[in-house]
Amino acid sequence: MPATEEGILRSELRWAAVSVGLVSVIMLTVIYAGLVHHINPPSNIETIDPKTLHLTGEFTEANLGTTVEPGGQVTSRIVATQFAFQPQCVVLPANRPVTLRFASPDVIHGILVTGTNVNTMVVPGYVSQVHTVFTKTGDLLMPCHEFCGLGHSQMWATVRVVPEPVFKPDADGRVGCDAR
Ligand code: CUA
Repeated sequence: MPATEEGILRSELRWAAVSVGLVSVIMLTVIYAGLVHHINPPSNIETIDPKTLHLTGEFTEANLGTTVEPGGQVTSRIVATQFAFQPQCVVLPANRPVTLRFASPDVIHGILVTGTNVNTMVVPGYVSQVHTVFTKTGDLLMPCHEFCGLGHSQMWATVRVVPEPVFKPDADGRVGCDAR
């Protein structure tokens, strides 16, 4: 069939409509996932001075690891540094909302907890925060997944997910891996 100019124009308009339709479906899916299922790209913007984070504030040594806040909120604070995590192991309860907070004093690191949806970059100058619920118990590996220097492949930590009855904070609300 010989292509007339009008035919070409109609075909172009049809395909333009298809593209606009596809983009609209994708946009609506993103908006729906964000509003209804609370699935969002990382949007937590909190800054921290990488030069002093070990001296004052929440990432000082005594605050690292898992804490049950007075309201019952479980938070783990971890420093990602060349080439280790501090602490090397954190304990968290299963089937309960938990928050992981990370900061880096040196370069960009990245973390993931194997077999879970926990995955974020840790950028110096910012606090990275992840909310999750662990459903499996056991020792989960948390490697650094952002090349951060020669020791990158040795940089990993353990997330010990324990059943709720075993998760016993001390009088200060602290729970550590050696306390078991
Ligand atoms: Cu830290 Cu790779």
